[in-house]
Amino acid sequence: MTDRYAVIGNPIAFSKSPLIHGSFAQATGQDIEYTRIEGPPGRFAATVDAFRAQGGCGLNITAPFKLDAYAYASEHSPAARLAGAANALKLEGARVLAENFDGVGLVRDVVHNLGQALRGRRVLMLGAGGAARGALLPFLAEQPAELVIANRSLDKAQALARIGAEHGRVRAAAYPALEGERFDLVFNATSASLHAELPPVPASVFADCVLAYELAYAKGMTPFLRLAGNAGVARRVDGVGMLAEQAAEAFAWWRGVRPDTAEVIERLRVPLV
Ligand code: ATR
Repeated sequence: MTDRYAVIGNPIAFSKSPLIHGSFAQATGQDIEYTRIEGPPGRFAATVDAFRAQGGCGLNITAPFKLDAYAYASEHSPAARLAGAANALKLEGARVLAENFDGVGLVRDVVHNLGQALRGRRVLMLGAGGAARGALLPFLAEQPAELVIANRSLDKAQALARIGAEHGRVRAAAYPALEGERFDLVFNATSASLHAELPPVPASVFADCVLAYELAYAKGMTPFLRLAGNAGVARRVDGVGMLAEQAAEAFAWWRGVRPDTAEVIERLRVPLV
C-alpha cells in the first residue's frame, strides 16, 4: 500500500509542499502519496486523528498549526522543544514524533547551497518570534564569532539570547543600538515582509555584509532586501532554499533517503523584483 503524507495548514491552497515532496519522491523512487489538508480552525487534533485512522504516516505543518502540532505529539526532538513548535510529525501507531526542521534547513541553505560559512562570522538576526527561535541553536552550532538578535520588543530578544547563551556567543540588541555595528551576514526573521514593512534596522549594519537573507519566500523585492541592495550588498536571497531544505530534512526523516534539492529550488525560485 502507498504510504500517505500531507501538509496541513489554513489556508493551504498555495502550499508548495505537494510539489516539493512529489518531486523528491520521483527523484528517489519512493512510492508515496502527498496531499494538502485544509485544517478547520480549532480542529487540528480531530483532523490529524482522521488522517492517522486512514493510515497517514507523516505530516508537514504550516500556519497556524505549528503549536497545535507540538501539543499533539507524544515525543519531541530538541529542535521542536526549543521552538515549542513542530513543522513535521511522524505518525507511528500510537507514537507521534514532533520535529522542527526550519532552522537546520536555513543553515543548510546558507552553508551548503549559498557557500557562506557561519563559522567565525558576525551574524545579525532580525526578529525574535517563531522563525528566529527555530534558527537560534542551528546558527549557534555553526559557531559564529557572534550572533546578535535584534527585535522591537527587546525582552523577547533577550529571552532568546539567554536560551542561546550556553551554546555560543549571542546577545540581544535594540534596533537603534545597531547603528555603527557591522555584520557579515544579515537575516530577516521578522514577519515584517509579509506586510511590506521594514524592520527599523540601520543601513550601516550592511557595510561589510556579503549576504542578506529574507526568510520569507516569494515576496519579491521586500523592503529589507531593497535596503540591503541600496547599502551595496551583492548577494540577496529569499527563503526558497530554506523551504526546500526543511522539506528535504522531513523527507529523509520519514523515508531514510535524502533527496537533492537543487532542481526544486530552481523550479520554485521567484525573481526578486
Ligand atoms: P514568526 O513565526 O513569523 O516568527 P511571530 O512569532 O509572530 O511570527 O514573530 C514575528 C516577529 O516579527 C517578531 O519578532 C516581531 O517583532 P516584535 O516581537 O517586536 O513584535 C517581528 N515583526 C513583525 N512586524 C515587524 C515590523 N514591522 N518591524 C519589525 N519587526 C516586526
